[in-house]
Amino acid sequence: MRAVDLIIKKRDGGTLSSDEISWLIRGYTAGEVADYQMAAWAMAVVLRGMDDRETTDLTLAMAASGDQFDLGDIAPNAVDKHSTGGVGDKTSLVLGPLLASVGLQVAKMSGRGLGFTGGTLDKLEAIPGMRVDLSQAEFRRAVQEIGMVIAGQTADLAPADKQLYALRDVTGTVESIPLIAASIMSKKLAAGAHSIVLDVKVGGGAFMKTLEQARELAQTMVRIGTLAGRNVSALLSTMEQPLGLAVGNILEVREAIATLHGNGPSDLHDLCLDLGAQLLVLAGKDRSARTARTRLEGALMSGQAWRKFRQFIIQQGGDVATVDDPSRLPVAPVVIALPAPSGGFIDRIDALEIGLVAAELGAGRSRKEDTVDPTVGLVLAAKIGDYVEAGEPLIHIHAANQAAATAAAERLASAIGLSATHVAAPPLVLDVVTK
Ligand code: URA
Repeated sequence: MRAVDLIIKKRDGGTLSSDEISWLIRGYTAGEVADYQMAAWAMAVVLRGMDDRETTDLTLAMAASGDQFDLGDIAPNAVDKHSTGGVGDKTSLVLGPLLASVGLQVAKMSGRGLGFTGGTLDKLEAIPGMRVDLSQAEFRRAVQEIGMVIAGQTADLAPADKQLYALRDVTGTVESIPLIAASIMSKKLAAGAHSIVLDVKVGGGAFMKTLEQARELAQTMVRIGTLAGRNVSALLSTMEQPLGLAVGNILEVREAIATLHGNGPSDLHDLCLDLGAQLLVLAGKDRSARTARTRLEGALMSGQAWRKFRQFIIQQGGDVATVDDPSRLPVAPVVIALPAPSGGFIDRIDALEIGLVAAELGAGRSRKEDTVDPTVGLVLAAKIGDYVEAGEPLIHIHAANQAAATAAAERLASAIGLSATHVAAPPLVLDVVTK
């Protein structure tokens, strides 16, 4: 086979066979197919698309390109959740312990933030002492001993995707539903969970800007996962405004702690319960999302989920005193409020801009090698639909210095809109996609 023939075939609208796709991925990982050829092929896919069979073959070939985790001996029904990336999304910090506290085994490999989106690993590392770089043995021990773990990729997981994703990032070939679906699902399949819930974010602060795109991505990923023998479902959830109130690492840890105590923002609380209910049903523990939700509410209210969170922090080396008493967590040197210029109902909170400003303050990174400042970020004082009086805070800015706080305030002034008339809060979950 020759790479150029496969590029031409796709360029001309053809369908690649399973053998051709696995040859391409194997050759690319081995360095026999050049970056420029792979980039040309990816562009042909962006323009011509791939059918379900090709997308599944690509996913399986990328999943098989490196280590594949097998948790069958210790956690045959391990569960995992994946979010396509958003602003203020700290659900994993709540959902992991919540699910483990009702008997599911949560084996989660997470990522770091890039661009305007946050990453679970950065949030966890904001807790003093917390380790996310676990060996495979430590990863397995945590699942066995406390029923949950959240760590960075311990294994050489889907290296073909790692290589291809880096190439797509710089060749204008990220925006393709089959390529995104195969990229995400190759890592999920290689990580070994048997039941997977996908949180596909929709809106200005997400990859998928429209409900139609998000639905197509969700349906593609659910089909691939099902064909690969896993239980998969997806929620489409709004990213028209940040999730919860806090955006920034320690600020989000505090909010996750409050949510585990039953005092979190209602959208974060509800999304955790909805995602968790899907997983309980997929894993066969509950017959309906309604009974599953009741079970999860009970675990939150009884303190069971909170106790599991403490175990998780201790297991991974975190200083539990700082989560028991979050006032011991480090704080940013400067905190200022941005006041509302007039009274009114909040009708717009630009999630993308909020994410970008938080990253600019130091909560995120623009290059992989950047370090994050755990203390900085933004905390909304109100959400879409809430009424604020003139002069009341719209958002609090946590910054490393006064100049950074002032620059953030200037940008944020146009990120939050006010209306004289009543505005309804946007729906949180827009659709559920099951097999
Ligand atoms: N996230 C991924 O892991 N891959 C993509 O292609 C897009 C988002």
